[in-house]
Amino acid sequence: MDTLVLPPLRTASGCVRLPGSKSISNRMLLLAALAEGATEIRDLLMADDTQVMLAALKKLGVGMTAIDDRTWRIEGCGGAFPVKAADLFMGNAGTAIRPLTAALALSGGHYRLSGVPRMHERPIGDLVDGLRQVGADVRYTGEAGFPPLEVFPATIQLGQPIRLRGDVSSQFLSALLMALPLGGQAAVIEITTELISQPYVEITLNLMARFGVKVQREGWQRFIIPAGQRYRSPGVLHVEGDASSASYFLAAGLLGGGPVRVEGVAKNSIQGDVQFAYALESLGAQIVWGENYIEARAGSKATEKIKAFDLDLNHIPDAAMTLAVCALFAEGRCVLRNIGSWRVKETDRIAAMAIELRKFGAVIEEGSDWIAVSPAPSFRRDVVVDTYDDHRMAMCFSLVALAGVPVVINDPDCVRKTFPDYFAALAEISAPVIAIDGPSASGKGTVASLVAAKLGYHYLDSGALYRLTALAAVRAGVALDDAPRVAALAATLPARFENGYVFLNADDVTDAIRTEEASAGASRVAAIAEVRAALLARQRAWRRFPGLVADGRDMGSVVFPSATVKVFLTASAEARAERRYKQLIAKGLAANMFGLLQDLQIRDERDAQRSEAPLRQCKDAHLVDTTQMGIAEAVDAVMAVVTESL
Ligand code: DC
Repeated sequence: MDTLVLPPLRTASGCVRLPGSKSISNRMLLLAALAEGATEIRDLLMADDTQVMLAALKKLGVGMTAIDDRTWRIEGCGGAFPVKAADLFMGNAGTAIRPLTAALALSGGHYRLSGVPRMHERPIGDLVDGLRQVGADVRYTGEAGFPPLEVFPATIQLGQPIRLRGDVSSQFLSALLMALPLGGQAAVIEITTELISQPYVEITLNLMARFGVKVQREGWQRFIIPAGQRYRSPGVLHVEGDASSASYFLAAGLLGGGPVRVEGVAKNSIQGDVQFAYALESLGAQIVWGENYIEARAGSKATEKIKAFDLDLNHIPDAAMTLAVCALFAEGRCVLRNIGSWRVKETDRIAAMAIELRKFGAVIEEGSDWIAVSPAPSFRRDVVVDTYDDHRMAMCFSLVALAGVPVVINDPDCVRKTFPDYFAALAEISAPVIAIDGPSASGKGTVASLVAAKLGYHYLDSGALYRLTALAAVRAGVALDDAPRVAALAATLPARFENGYVFLNADDVTDAIRTEEASAGASRVAAIAEVRAALLARQRAWRRFPGLVADGRDMGSVVFPSATVKVFLTASAEARAERRYKQLIAKGLAANMFGLLQDLQIRDERDAQRSEAPLRQCKDAHLVDTTQMGIAEAVDAVMAVVTESL
């Protein structure tokens, strides 16, 4: 099994673009498949659970085309799946198997639905009971009450109200609601118990309405689908960012100081899990609601422990897991109530959470539908967290590293289910960064790569990106002052860095980008604002675990303003010219000391005087002057600063 060792994390700040919502993606896919007309779905989640739905719909004969990796066109089949007999594998995707079972039961075909072993332990009996009341022929092929299932053609009668329990999973109600319009008649559902996770039902009703089917609701007890409604494609739809996934980053904003911004959700979201932000506020977070984002940061005193809490979390069962881990950081005992649905999710989440939280020394009490966490006074280091093939266990326990302790996550790939790039996104806001800025030929490249090797960190030579941009422009015959075209090249630079070599497409350009001509070109394109903007996201994506050493001119000021350590590495112009002179001579190249000094001074001037991200020492940067130092001494000087701060 793979493991991921998360390094101690001190701070978290930055911006995360959320993947699409799982709940919305899978509902939209099904409704688009059942509708008349084609639907283009944008920002679709690309993860295991949506792949399960896409694969099943494809097997059922639904036409689909990937326009790009997040945009799909679904050809609706007008309520009747073209394929009338199929075996469907549903993995562990609850948002796929439940609504599909209901839709297939009303489709007049013969289908088998199965999943991974855990799926065969997750109850579906209430839904099957509901479907049987309208005449559907759904049978268990394993244990009664659980998948696998077999569905046969049947005559559907919607005359009587369907009586349905709502206290195990709201997905049973959502599944019936989405399927019943296929019957063409009026239908009524009566909920016989308390209905849990109501906001998820609201997502269902909202999306059904977008496909033209209105449901009348009497409280949370009775749902009426008037006769004569059919799903019709609304044309183009956008999937919101996943609000449950947002919870990890918002919590990181509280635990790691922040601000952390999640883009793709906001107050007007149709997902109940945005309410997590209010819960976090009650723990002491400061929340800002933007047009298309939510932002969280620690309260006024960043060093304070978070407030203890006692909350009913029935409305946000998934995001609530994040609060259980936050409780480890609290000043006292915290209670999470009304979370019985945790027992039937990807794993028994109450049991799993209790076991893993105890590993950190917390005292845990648990009941059938609640858990209480009394945190230990300090965090244990190097705890190995088991994740139970549950993406949310992996994601929420990663936050413990923000206590400044290393944490080991077993089977980190289980995040594939809803957020394949989760750890990359977490690293982009929290992995340690050593930013080393300084003028040309100050030796920062050599020093930075040696420091990276000593720490086992990744190394970003940001100057190489400007050099590559200039080279790509020269090769494409683009003038170096043609800002829009040079920026377009920078945005799509086909660059690769491998074992100290640099490639542009398949060409090894390691030496070509180091010529004096390439240096002069780089300095010119680096002064263009659009070029700098085009390279920004690419540079930030280098911030990965266990950490990054980045060298350049604006690493500490613009690219990584929250860097863990900032160093300004410099040397006198004469010393730098002499080093360059020796390098060139050693390579057997002609060199002129006076010319080199002049070139350096011109470049220094341009790098320092330009309006965009000029070279300057940040206020919080440590000055290391290497005029009198050899490489080893310079590395030691930087390491001394780094070890003090890490
Ligand atoms: O560090 P270097 O000599 O490889 O950089 C090449 C050019 O790119 C240099 O003129 C400065 C510019 N540069 C920049 O503007 N910002 C950076 N972060 C890195 C380099």
